[in-house]
Amino acid sequence: MRIDVLTLFPNFFEGFLNESIIKRAILKKKVEINIINFRDYSPLNNKQVDDTPYGGGAGMVLRCEPIFLCLDEIKTKDSLVILLSPQGKTFKEQTAHTLKKYKHIILICGHYEGIDERIKTLVDMELSIGDFVLTGGEIPAMAVIDAVVRLIPGVIKEESLDVESFNNQLLDYPNYTKPSVYRSLKVPEVLLSGDHQKIAEYRKMEQLRVTKEKRPDLLEDKDE
Ligand SMILES: C[S@@+](CC[C@H](N)C(=O)[O-])C[C@H]1O[C@@H](n2cnc3c(N)ncnc32)[C@H](O)[C@@H]1O
Repeated sequence: MRIDVLTLFPNFFEGFLNESIIKRAILKKKVEINIINFRDYSPLNNKQVDDTPYGGGAGMVLRCEPIFLCLDEIKTKDSLVILLSPQGKTFKEQTAHTLKKYKHIILICGHYEGIDERIKTLVDMELSIGDFVLTGGEIPAMAVIDAVVRLIPGVIKEESLDVESFNNQLLDYPNYTKPSVYRSLKVPEVLLSGDHQKIAEYRKMEQLRVTKEKRPDLLEDKDE
């Protein structure tokens, strides 16, 4: 998979691409991630990318030409173009599962008051990471990349993905590790029993309990 990110602030991505699982996925060639500064595509002599809004109002709006020119160059028939926007459809785990199937994803990060509305003609999907407004699309882009890349086969162990929050409309069960007692807080006995069937049953019940307690809305759509 190839992911191209269009941003005016490439430095945001330095730590993100050079740490932990994302770094390893890039080194293992599971994903190629290109950070593109779309200022480079500005047709203006001073490389200006923003301007005041037509009709007046606060803030600056990103001009559409740099994005059009950049997409002319990088978009192919395999590309899915996504605009990060607080007005988009909410990004969910299911969205990440859908996106992992694409060969090429282009993520457009807005800034300031957003981007000239005419870029919507280039966009296949608008995605929001929640009902709040951030200063730019860089953090949402990193959230989308992180959630998608970890699902690409070979990036993390398949077993780690088997039981996870949001699979099958359930949250994950509680996890514990050593020591078995800490400040009189004990790990549930069943997890130390070595009885795999009992442990599996306990974990399933815990998934239901935790989901009911924290996210009862997930169970509403579930038929079991
Ligand atoms: C300050 S916001 C613009 C908000 C816009 N004026 C509005 O009220 O809908 C600047 C940029 O940040 C990004 N952004 C902000 N909040 C976001 C969110 N919740 N999800 C995805 N992108 C977001 C978008 O790329 C947006 O163009």
